[in-house]
Amino acid sequence: MSVTAIYPGSFDPPTHGHLDLIRRSSRLFDKLVVAILRNDAKQPLFSMDERRVMLEECTRDIANVEIGYFQGLLVEYAARRGARVLIRGIRAVSDYEYELQMTSMNRHLQPDIETVFLMASEQYSFISSRLVKDVFRLGGDISGLVPPTVEAELKSKITQELPKS
Ligand code: PNS
Repeated sequence: MSVTAIYPGSFDPPTHGHLDLIRRSSRLFDKLVVAILRNDAKQPLFSMDERRVMLEECTRDIANVEIGYFQGLLVEYAARRGARVLIRGIRAVSDYEYELQMTSMNRHLQPDIETVFLMASEQYSFISSRLVKDVFRLGGDISGLVPPTVEAELKSKITQELPKS
């Protein structure tokens, strides 16, 4: 039986932490769908298409990975895709409470879908998309935190953001 897993997230932008999780979980399941949340209430830095293209570029060498979008309930998207597994990463104890709550809610909504947690690799355990954007905006070095293609996209996006003087 072929098992599909979904790795959901905002990916605004994708980081080495995300890519490490994608690579590791792609080895555990037959198919991995990386699912970008379309959330109109949030103001992401990157559009859905920009995030999809960055993820596609960074996962081009992994044959069983597909990039998708979803809106609304994650468990409904998972059911539509025939996926029985959700992947989430844990970086630190502080992630645990939020993840526990989300997992319990998802299980309440759809008991047949299991969430599988992978612990972030130590070298990526402090990386988040939000911190990467903050550090980059303040002129810090983000090489090693995101792939070069994402760094280039950040550079052009944040240059556009800066007021012209
Ligand atoms: O990268 P993020 O922002 O931590 O990802 C959060 C995400 C997309 C996994 C979460 O917000 C989500 O699943 N949203 C979909 C809405 C939903 O299903 N809510 C009910 C379960 S809490």
